[in-house]
Amino acid sequence: MRIPFLLLLRNTRKTDRARGSDTPVFLKAMAPRGAAFALLGALALTGCRQDMHDQPRYRPFAATDFFGDRRASRPAIPGTVARGMLKTDTGYWTGKAAGKEVERYPLPLTREVLERGRDRFNIYCQPCHGAAGYGNGIIVTRGLKNPPSYHTDALREAPIGHFVDVMTNGSGSMLSYASRVPVRDRWAIAAYIRVLQQSQNVKAGDLSAEERQKVNAPEARAAEPKKEAAH
Ligand code: HEC
Repeated sequence: MRIPFLLLLRNTRKTDRARGSDTPVFLKAMAPRGAAFALLGALALTGCRQDMHDQPRYRPFAATDFFGDRRASRPAIPGTVARGMLKTDTGYWTGKAAGKEVERYPLPLTREVLERGRDRFNIYCQPCHGAAGYGNGIIVTRGLKNPPSYHTDALREAPIGHFVDVMTNGSGSMLSYASRVPVRDRWAIAAYIRVLQQSQNVKAGDLSAEERQKVNAPEARAAEPKKEAAH
């Protein structure tokens, strides 16, 4: 098998030369080397036959005498961090830094963020907490415990990190949402909860004269949506 292959290489080169082929010079210069590689390759293929499925290997967690601790699977080097898992900013990742709830929203706060927050809130929180956050979601009518209203002084005054902490770690009978709601979305939801709180707690003094007039206009009163009853 090896000999004819070599002959073949030789023959082509001879005919090339005879024809005075117009192969570029650099390719011609490479030809002898190419032949040497081909020969090596042919030898490697035919010379030793160890298929990959026969190669020496360990099954995961198998024992071995090679390492002192007899573990074939080597433990990760201390301090190894899986890709994308470097979470040095605990405030961002958990809502709490050094045991204290984060006070400030850590990302740029835009309309998109609030809309994203509304979207995620309506999917993940509204079934229990209700669309406006009064704790009267559909789940309550099916017998689940009433979640607390967001419109209490305690939750109005809670730092924004509190909401991220609750979503990340759960609170009382409420489970963690960390596996379903990525951290960026948790912050967006927290920001949207602030919007809900604000929406139910506007003081007349916060309005401009023009806005107050609008609110007091008879047609605005007629169109006023009925407030969700707090449970
Ligand atoms: C399956 C129903 C359910 C869902 C879904 C749910 N919660 Fe709750 N939540 C509760 C209940 C029940 C409590 C009260 C837990 C307790 O005190 O034992 C609660 C409590 C809370 C509290 C108050 C914690 C405190 O004591 O300060 C916050 C804030 C909160 N939830 C936010 C959220 C957010 C944000 C989401 C969506 C990501 C969400 N919840 C989804 C049921 C739910």
